Amino acid sequence: MATGLIHLHNLLRWIILILLVISIAKAYTGWKSKKAFAPGDKKFWFFTMTTAHITFLLGFLQLLFGRYGIVTSVLPEGTSIMKNKFYRFFWIEHPFIMIISVALITIGYGMSKKEVPDEVKYRKAFIYFLVALIFILIGIPWPFREVVGRPLLPGM
Ligand code: HEM
Repeated sequence: MATGLIHLHNLLRWIILILLVISIAKAYTGWKSKKAFAPGDKKFWFFTMTTAHITFLLGFLQLLFGRYGIVTSVLPEGTSIMKNKFYRFFWIEHPFIMIISVALITIGYGMSKKEVPDEVKYRKAFIYFLVALIFILIGIPWPFREVVGRPLLPGM
């Protein structure tokens, strides 16, 4: 069960990245072509946001009860979180960066409901989604990262 959840958390990263890139493309073309806001775009952004929220919840469970969870693991004697690259990343940096990204995706989706001109909806959503994407790319424990690197796909 626990392994399944971390595998799902790992896999959802790809789904978020794909959905986010498409959401960015939709926002950009809507903004640049000055098109009327399409309900289909709102649905797509909602889907992107929901995937991000599920990943967030799974991450939060990992943070508390996972292999290296705050509740389930005991730090080696004399270990300071801030001086230990591994725990600093998974307990502080990764959650912090990802929480900001998920908040940005949520605000980006919220633009679809704002009473503002359609061009503004698309432009602002584009900016929020783009910044969220950059944060996610920075926050992912890519395999090439020292100490914290994780596989590109679950179980690899
Ligand atoms: C868009 C949001 C997120 C993405 C794309 C993401 C991505 C990832 C990836 C790819 C891993 C490596 C998984 C593996 O070892 O196979 C991971 C691990 C982890 N993530 Fe996230 N994450 C996100 C949000 C969060 C959040 C919000 C939290 C905490 C509140 C979190 C906590 C963790 C923890 C604690 C681990 C290590 C789990 C373990 O190895 O046992 N993540 N994350």
